[in-house]
Amino acid sequence: MSTNLIILAAGKGTRMNSDSPKVLHKVAGAPLLVHAMRAGASLEPAQTVVVAGHGAEAVSAAARAYDETATIALQTEQKGTGHAVLCAREALAKASGDVLVLYGDTPFIRPETLRAMTEARKENDVVVLGFEAADPARYGRLVMAGSQLERIVEFKDATDEERAITFCNSGVILCSADNIFALLSQITNTNASGEYYLTDIIGIARDAGLKATAVACDERETLGVNSRLDLAAAEAAFQARARHEALESGVTLTAPDTVFFAYDTYVGPDTIIEPHVVFGPNVTIENGAHIRAFSHLEGAHVSRGATVGPYARLRPGAELSENVHVGNFVEIKNATLAEGAKVNHLSYIGDAAVGAETNIGAGTITCNYDGVFKHHTEIGARAFIGSNTMLVAPVSVGDEAMTATGAVVTKDVPEGAMAIARAPQDNKINLARKLFAKLRARKARQQTESKGL
Ligand code: UD1
Ligand code: CA
Repeated sequence: MSTNLIILAAGKGTRMNSDSPKVLHKVAGAPLLVHAMRAGASLEPAQTVVVAGHGAEAVSAAARAYDETATIALQTEQKGTGHAVLCAREALAKASGDVLVLYGDTPFIRPETLRAMTEARKENDVVVLGFEAADPARYGRLVMAGSQLERIVEFKDATDEERAITFCNSGVILCSADNIFALLSQITNTNASGEYYLTDIIGIARDAGLKATAVACDERETLGVNSRLDLAAAEAAFQARARHEALESGVTLTAPDTVFFAYDTYVGPDTIIEPHVVFGPNVTIENGAHIRAFSHLEGAHVSRGATVGPYARLRPGAELSENVHVGNFVEIKNATLAEGAKVNHLSYIGDAAVGAETNIGAGTITCNYDGVFKHHTEIGARAFIGSNTMLVAPVSVGDEAMTATGAVVTKDVPEGAMAIARAPQDNKINLARKLFAKLRARKARQQTESKGL
């Protein structure tokens, strides 16, 4: 049976004290909304509808950047979760099968949990995701009768007896598309908040003789973000899980607490990651690489046996083949380094291709930008780029060619050639000694004059 996804993301998130909508705040380099969409994507939804309100334009841009087929439904006034789901009705007019409701501010629901819900759905008309709360606070309470869910009561509307229940509503709900909209058409806002509660559909479903149940998950999965404190806690929870998974999968982290992963970082087994390494989005590291301390990687691919850092920066489009060495204070952007190439010290390689076994000397810079356009530098295999070479792009250096130390290379260097592009040296005999004498004499004069005053 097909599943359709509704993600509620219209809320403002007042407690974030932010100009941007809550669901666009990031955990591990991706907006909260994208985490929710990724969780839902594990069910391969036929259609995804994001209900947006506050900052709808930015929210829909983020949703579409992740999934260009996502539909946006507008909820101009936030009248409650039930009303929010109803706003998606039109977008799902032709939908068949099930509807899964997720919150855009709840990033950690696991695919396994959603599968347990679809499993429970086989025997039930409505399935709600619940959790045993350490502190049930203001969550909605799940009123169970054996394995049947009788109704959900919101904290504000609950009696003392109901408030004593610790099994709480996560907000995630699974139901057929037909049923969810039929049930929602019967809810009212006569409650303590004056809102249309999605949670009211359970009682209505039971009264109509439908079966409802709750599947339990770990409380940490349902962690919602309402404040910057929550956001920091969510980031910490994500990182703790990512570090654990990396270690379990065969990656060495010498100081796990200092390594920060992005939501989509992939690191192959037998890679060693030293302390204080930060991964931005879209990084893949193959087996047996070595990422040394204080390196920052984003949009980069590092092949087997390559070494990066310490203090290296790989920016988007950095493509390192096997056994490449990128050393300290080196920045690589939109550049491919073929097998065994070395850029060991203080260099910038941008918009370039570097051939196999080529050595780039310290302080080399590809001058790729003329203030308006970016230009490409092509360096062949087994070449030797002398220290402090300025490669003024567009320019190419052939296989097995060399550039002299300090060269400013503005013309292509043929293969096997040596490019010397700097002023020839001229030694003036005794000139330094004369100059020193003159300068010291001037300083002595100045000191006598100032004492005389
Ligand atoms: C809701 C549940 C509660 C549950 C809790 C879990 C209801 C009535 N209550 O309460 O049982 O324990 O979540 O966190 O469903 N939203 C909209 N439009 C609206 C209202 C909300 O898009 O008109 C979105 C919010 O942006 C948020 C989510 O729905 O992402 C939940 O809304 P929120 O107001 O936080 O619900 P709670 O009162 O916490
Ligand atoms: Ca909430």
